[in-house]
Amino acid sequence: MNHFIDIAEHSADEIAELLSIAQELKAEYFSGGNRPLFKGKTLGMIFQKPSLRTRVSFDMAMRHMEGDALYLSPAEIGLGQRESIGDISRVLSGYVSAMMARVFEHGHVQKLAEYASIPVINGLSDHSHPCQAMADALTIIEKRGSMKGLTVCYVGDGNNVAVSLMHVSLMLGANFVMSNPDDYGLPEDQLAYGKKLSEKNSVTFDVITDPFAAVKSANVIYTDTWTSMGQEAETAKREKVFPPYQVNQDLVNAAQKDVLVMHCLPAHRNHEITDEVADGPNSVLFQQAHNRLHAEKAILAKLFKVV
Ligand code: CP
Ligand code: NVA
Repeated sequence: MNHFIDIAEHSADEIAELLSIAQELKAEYFSGGNRPLFKGKTLGMIFQKPSLRTRVSFDMAMRHMEGDALYLSPAEIGLGQRESIGDISRVLSGYVSAMMARVFEHGHVQKLAEYASIPVINGLSDHSHPCQAMADALTIIEKRGSMKGLTVCYVGDGNNVAVSLMHVSLMLGANFVMSNPDDYGLPEDQLAYGKKLSEKNSVTFDVITDPFAAVKSANVIYTDTWTSMGQEAETAKREKVFPPYQVNQDLVNAAQKDVLVMHCLPAHRNHEITDEVADGPNSVLFQQAHNRLHAEKAILAKLFKVV
């Protein structure tokens, strides 16, 4: 493993191995036994967009294991504006041990990787959010033992989070159902890719427009913001289209018993998810957020080749 840009670039075995390393590192953390695995290592964190979870979890992942992290704000770096992405990547490759980047265009994180002589991690792009999906899979496995045979239903916008969740679900043996308003589905190439992946792994991949029909077989309901970072100009239009896709108690009641309710956060409460559901007994929102730390330790450890 040289970079971590997209779940789809890795085999199911690699993803499963990362998740098992994450479980081991989490157990060590809670028994007070962090190993200094990242001693002498540094992570450069390039952010073109805001963040709470990604910034703090990566920073703490490095510090817990005696490494260090450096935050580089949009103003400082000016990715592709002040300086070309290739030049930034080659310069940082001589200063830090790995880079994590949150970008607008997926091509930008790919370009960083192309020019880097150190590992590059995608901390969210317009296409995917693989670190989030790793924390999500870890959470589902902790709650249900495995993803095999479960049905994961994503309700809402076919965005970066939906793409990575689809990848990890189908890859680890779960069925995947997508439910979205017209014109807000997964990108065409991802619909085709999901179909291929589902056939390969003998699971199902369906698009069901009616959210109540979609969640009927769901063991997991997942949602995310209706307006992702960079789409702010469309907020008013989206707020009109998405309300039928709100994850509320009626929708939860239409799913399987003990359905897990998930959201990558930040949540827009009483828009895509109600307070009642976000704070209710089915919600695992904060476990997901906390699992970012452990999933990212595993990704870093594998890229640093220290496990
Ligand atoms: N879920 C997630 O990536 O959160 P942040 O935008 O706060 O990093
Ligand atoms: N889909 C959201 C995820 C935020 C973590 C966005 O891209 O803004």
